[in-house]
Amino acid sequence: MKKLIKNPSQIVTVDTNGKHCKNGKESSQVNLLTGYSILIEDGLIKDFVKNSSAEKLKVDFIIDAKDKIVLPGLVECHTHTAFAGSRANEFLMRLKGASYEEIAEAGGGIISTVKSVRQSSFEELIAIIKPRIENFISQGITTLEIKSGYGLSYYDEIKLLQVINYFKKSMPIDIVPTFLGAHTFPPEYKNDHQNYIKLITDEMLPFIIKNNLAEFVDAFCEKSAFSANEVDKIFSKAVKLGYKLRLHTEQFNNIGGLDVAIKHNSLSADHLEVISENDIEKFSYSEIVAVLLPGVSFFLGCNYAPARTLIDSGAAVALSTDFNPGSSNISSLHFIMSLAALQMKMSAEEIISAVTINAAKALDLQTKLGSIEIGKQADFAVFDAKEYSEIIYNIGSNLNVMTVKKGEIIFQK
Ligand code: NIG
Ligand code: FE
Repeated sequence: MKKLIKNPSQIVTVDTNGKHCKNGKESSQVNLLTGYSILIEDGLIKDFVKNSSAEKLKVDFIIDAKDKIVLPGLVECHTHTAFAGSRANEFLMRLKGASYEEIAEAGGGIISTVKSVRQSSFEELIAIIKPRIENFISQGITTLEIKSGYGLSYYDEIKLLQVINYFKKSMPIDIVPTFLGAHTFPPEYKNDHQNYIKLITDEMLPFIIKNNLAEFVDAFCEKSAFSANEVDKIFSKAVKLGYKLRLHTEQFNNIGGLDVAIKHNSLSADHLEVISENDIEKFSYSEIVAVLLPGVSFFLGCNYAPARTLIDSGAAVALSTDFNPGSSNISSLHFIMSLAALQMKMSAEEIISAVTINAAKALDLQTKLGSIEIGKQADFAVFDAKEYSEIIYNIGSNLNVMTVKKGEIIFQK
């Protein structure tokens, strides 16, 4: 099956010359093609064809992109989309001065969402989560990571992963399930860390990989959650079982998570709002991706991660919403792109690299998608804009008018 994305005003390729990732200065080069159409064959990018010759090409289907700009399908690499309930009450408490950590210590926070998830059936969760995924698709997102982490019992973590896998099979985008059983300690193990860790390492991890429910393991390394030593135990077992890793670290406190992530070849270290200056160079031209989540800083009113210093010292930076009910109830990746520009001083090009190829790298999908290069999946976000800076400049608007996954139109305005 041959298709043509015809006559866009601009193709933002984000090509990498086969490196499939952009470190430091490389991320400010996104490369533009004008006067070309994109030939798709069997869901993959086959070629770039001059518009003059595109007229004569025989294809099965034409996708008209006149006056539109085409970007790689956006990659949303860090979300907690699989939650139930609302924490609007906590939001109001914070407006009155309570901190996120104080609320968590008083039994709210993640645990409050755990209660809602435990009370929700598989079917109820499907009904709540489906429109959230559709919302992501309408933004041009063609690859979406979703973590568990609000079940925190054998039964409820598996239930959440089954829900995520239901969408992996039934939604028209790539969905990447991540096991986050080490999000925090559930109330029944609050004073028995050892046995919760044992439950994760000896029961949950083996079952999940055996049943193909997740190939990624994440954890939250924080004073109020898991110590570096506890994460080390979980990661050691996860690696033995063949999982790939991610880590929430250096969000509120620096307790050594980054070194554990690096020790176990984690694909990414996420958050980094309080990363120490000395640690920044650990990302320089290394394989680990710094996943920055400025929505959290905006939502909680705290420090932004040092995106500029990270990029200037050679890091590969990705951006994501961290969509969750407590610390970033923000589901617009476009808004996050605007925040990254305004609050973290990232350039438009760095931001585009961060939500495409670098986000793909954080999910180990960089050789398949994340840029418009021959041989990659024909995943595109088509924007009604004159140039890509409009996406970032029109804060809070959704300029995406068409989402294409493996050559199929899956959303159209
Ligand atoms: O990524 N850091 C921990 N987890 C989420 C917040 C989860 C919640 O508050 O529900 C985060 O910020
Ligand atoms: Fe998170």
